[in-house]
Amino acid sequence: MTTITKTCSIVFSPTHTSQKVANVIMKGTGIPDATPYNFTLPPVFSLHIDCDTLVVFAAPVYGGHIPPIAIERMKKVTGEQSPAIVVVVYGNRDYEHALEEFAALVRQQGFKVIAAATFIGEHSYSTRQYPISAGRPNKNDLLKAETFGQEVAKKISNESSIQEIDVKQIERPEQSLWTTLRFIAKVLRVKGAKKPVQPTPSITDISSCTHCGVCAENCPTQAISIGEEQTTDFSRCIRCCACVKMCPLHIRIYETPFSQLLSTCYAREKEPHTLL
Ligand SMILES: Cc1cc2nc3c(=O)[nH]c(=O)nc-3n(C[C@H](O)[C@H](O)[C@H](O)COP(=O)(O)O)c2cc1C
Repeated sequence: MTTITKTCSIVFSPTHTSQKVANVIMKGTGIPDATPYNFTLPPVFSLHIDCDTLVVFAAPVYGGHIPPIAIERMKKVTGEQSPAIVVVVYGNRDYEHALEEFAALVRQQGFKVIAAATFIGEHSYSTRQYPISAGRPNKNDLLKAETFGQEVAKKISNESSIQEIDVKQIERPEQSLWTTLRFIAKVLRVKGAKKPVQPTPSITDISSCTHCGVCAENCPTQAISIGEEQTTDFSRCIRCCACVKMCPLHIRIYETPFSQLLSTCYAREKEPHTLL
């Protein structure tokens, strides 16, 4: 049996909610030798994790999946049957197969999935007018994350050989069929209306931009250049809204009909779930 002496978090997290959750889980394990690794921004580096390290992997859900860019970046990480916790963070709608896909990826990279969790983060499209799980993860979520970290640490210390889990066994979010159908009907109506959609986040008032560079520095795909912040490269932008959430002057916006739609259909806040 290998003794776990270290822990680390490995995250892709443009608007920081997955990062927050992962780091609190890591803290909850109580393992003092803890290193956070962030794969959100380039340059992306290769990383090999020893079998004595417990890893917390976390990523957001985009369209029911792990964002392809997160997958690409996490493929730089390899393990030696190192134990891993797999966490997906979603904006209160649903995560569909994202957790299973993430667990499969982590296994493929040489890790043993020993625990999993689904947490709620403020939706990237949440606005003041149309809040969607605004402020999540909140105090209760983070308390749950810390407790979960403690439970994983207990599992590791109690078991002579740490058991792998089947992430399909995790409790699914409570959701009525009516909510899903209503959402689909509204999406079809929006798509049918063929209203022009803002292709990427952009600046409302270009004359107010001070070219501070915060948006460009926090863009995971380098879709914004410092000095030319009013232009977002459509071919690179993943609509993560990191630039919107981090603009100190709040002049970057992403107007999408999905803000209102998600805010209306998913007003009832979901709860995190964990599996050991
Ligand atoms: C392009 C895009 C697609 C998304 N798709 C989903 C989704 O399918 N289900 C959901 O509940 N939230 C979805 N979200 C919301 C994010 O999962 C949520 O905001 C998450 O907390 C962001 O994580 P981060 O803060 O680590 O970047 C989506 C967000 C974006 C930008």
